[in-house]
Amino acid sequence: MDFSQKNVIVTGGASGIGKAVVKGIVEGEGHAIIVDLNMEAAEKLRQELGETRSSVYKVDLGDSNEIRTVFGQILKDFGQIHVLINCAGIVSTLPFDQVTQDEWNKTISINLTGVFTAISAIYPSMKENSYGRIVNVSSVAGKIGGGLLGTSAYAASKAGVIGLTKAVAREGAPYGIICNAICPSLTMTPMTSNINDEKRKKIISGIPLGRGASTDEIANVINFYASDLASFVTGEISDVDGGITMDG
Ligand SMILES: NC(=O)c1ccc[n+]([C@@H]2O[C@H](COP(=O)([O-])OP(=O)(O)OC[C@H]3O[C@@H](n4cnc5c(N)ncnc54)[C@H](O)[C@@H]3O)[C@@H](O)[C@H]2O)c1
Repeated sequence: MDFSQKNVIVTGGASGIGKAVVKGIVEGEGHAIIVDLNMEAAEKLRQELGETRSSVYKVDLGDSNEIRTVFGQILKDFGQIHVLINCAGIVSTLPFDQVTQDEWNKTISINLTGVFTAISAIYPSMKENSYGRIVNVSSVAGKIGGGLLGTSAYAASKAGVIGLTKAVAREGAPYGIICNAICPSLTMTPMTSNINDEKRKKIISGIPLGRGASTDEIANVINFYASDLASFVTGEISDVDGGITMDG
């Protein structure tokens, strides 16, 4: 996919799905701006890719003030951001009656408010440039209420991302801002590496394709929506879930 002349922010770009997204952007000749908390992993990736092909910024996506400050700096440093890919996220796996207020607040703060704030920090500049591509990473949990790994707080945060995606798509369309989301199911990343064999088998038994996804299989779809190949698609919530949802 062609990302030449494009500056692309990837939150959570240091690991898992985000890392595969970053690699795809750089392969497409774009400049990837990795926004993450894990500076060690982000720097390692930047070195791997060749130092001039990506940049790294430290942001805690649970801290709205920090997001606005650092994204403001990114805009100053790059002039124009063409694409924003919101990939960073955490999972919450507690049964409903064990979800504390802190667990709820933290999950919503990073997975939903963080996505809102990141978009909000870049949207005016995209509007001014009459060009923007935003891809949000939701989850099958946001559609079916969890049931694989994440539970209520996670499912609610990811369902919120679906509503936010549609609203930004609707309001951004007159200004050339396109916004879509993808809903992955089980993907082999550090987030899912601790699932025990029994649980993994149970999850996989519910996936029609009978396996989890590689990070590339998810990143390919994210990068499609981030690219101009998808220039007439907006407000789409795309299942990349091995056939779990099939909701039309
Ligand atoms: N792995 C799966 O099975 C799966 C399934 C559905 C959806 N997802 C979603 O895909 C996205 C990527 O997940 P992954 O599996 O690649 O996870 P991962 O843990 O490998 O990567 C998540 C990245 O986000 C970063 N991050 C976490 N909290 C942050 C914060 N507060 N501020 C800045 N960065 C932060 C981490 O440092 C890490 O680099 C998440 O939004 C996740 O909910 C994953």
